[in-house]
Amino acid sequence: MKLWEGRFEAPTAGDADLFNDSLPFDCRLWSVDIAASIAHATMLGACGIITKEESDEICAGLNSISEDIAAGKLEIAGAEDIHSFMENELVGRIGEAGKKLHTARSRNDQVATDFRLYARGAFDCLAESLAWLVDSLCDRAKAGLKFIMPGYTHLRKAQPMCAGHFFNAYSEMFLRDLDRVCASRERANVMPLGSGALAGTSYPIDRDLTCTLLEFDRPCENSLDGVSDRDFVAEYIFDCSMIMSHLSRLCEDIILYSTEEFGYFEIPDEYSTGSSIMPQKKNPDIPELMRGKTGRVYGHLMAILTTIKAIPLAYNKDLQEDKEGFFDAEKQTINCINIMAEMLPYIKLNGPRMAKAAEAEFCCATDVADYLAKKGVPFRTAHGVTGSIVRWCLKNGRTLQDMTPEEYRSFAPEFGDDITQTVTAAACAAARTSYGGASPECVKANLKSIKKRLKNFI
Ligand code: ARG
Repeated sequence: MKLWEGRFEAPTAGDADLFNDSLPFDCRLWSVDIAASIAHATMLGACGIITKEESDEICAGLNSISEDIAAGKLEIAGAEDIHSFMENELVGRIGEAGKKLHTARSRNDQVATDFRLYARGAFDCLAESLAWLVDSLCDRAKAGLKFIMPGYTHLRKAQPMCAGHFFNAYSEMFLRDLDRVCASRERANVMPLGSGALAGTSYPIDRDLTCTLLEFDRPCENSLDGVSDRDFVAEYIFDCSMIMSHLSRLCEDIILYSTEEFGYFEIPDEYSTGSSIMPQKKNPDIPELMRGKTGRVYGHLMAILTTIKAIPLAYNKDLQEDKEGFFDAEKQTINCINIMAEMLPYIKLNGPRMAKAAEAEFCCATDVADYLAKKGVPFRTAHGVTGSIVRWCLKNGRTLQDMTPEEYRSFAPEFGDDITQTVTAAACAAARTSYGGASPECVKANLKSIKKRLKNFI
């Protein structure tokens, strides 16, 4: 039965029904719909809008529906949306009292309330998974403390760094995401219930009571905005998108660093796949697929932003399009975070290979220039001298490490014998002691701070 059929002479066409129905996807809101209805019915009873007995009957009926759905005894089907389904089912179970549930309420404030309740849980799940991921990264950072690896700019070798720095950088990104998710959840935790269809209601409702019962921070202050605001949906999907962008970068680095060419990391068999034709292949399908799913989540962000654009106040059916993208972004993002958190401990770090790479391709050149600058040579001059040393090495097949102090001195008299100890990758990394820098000491401090900040969220 349609909730609104009284005004109509003819039933809706079959294809129009199919097109209009949201039950196939909003059935996911069943438990929050029941929770919101119980709060609403309790408030109606407390305010004397319906009798206490009617209120109790409604709550008992809703609880019995909840138990049956949870036990798999009641199939959610045969209605336009989850709200219609619930009311039909309730009236079927308790009769006349059930018909009073929708007093002082509209599906417009109902769906907005349900979805915020659902989103609250979804934000919490995201936060929980992110905390797990950061914890997992902390373990890798700890393992990386004893290794030196090259850092890159423009994907060209730049400067040596403690390998833990790499993992801590990703922890910083995901901690920002965690912070954002918590802030978004707080903004979402405002209650539209009581906004009615758009203009509030003439019944003496108590919005503070429903707000307390549903653990919202406050009731929304404008009913028009209350029923039509879907900012929290866009924000949730944005948060997912940002997380996916960070994950995709991590995936890209893992894919790259585990190639035969780099060989810094090894993705274990458990998280690799093979080729149907090339027997030797071990492919990084898991991080590749994760990188690929980023586009899909961004797509949902574009979709919701476009859907909410230029919608006149207040509720319009366009807003029903808010759910499927949200649900898919939620599923994909949580899945990706969890798989990454699970896979990271298995990623092996190839210490000797990274250390060797950190000395190659003149990775220590900045430190040669810095050496001269610290002896009083202006940095720009020191940069030029070091550039000519690199050029000389390239021409003569030499490295910064196999040059003798005399050879260094032929470029500048300021070079002492200690230059040879300065140009090891380990020394270069160890020297980067500025706050937030890549020396093992700094990386250890960063790791400690990351763990401390993580604790604020768990
Ligand atoms: N299924 C609808 C949605 O998700 C519920 C609200 C319907 N309200 C209405 N006035 N048609 O948006």
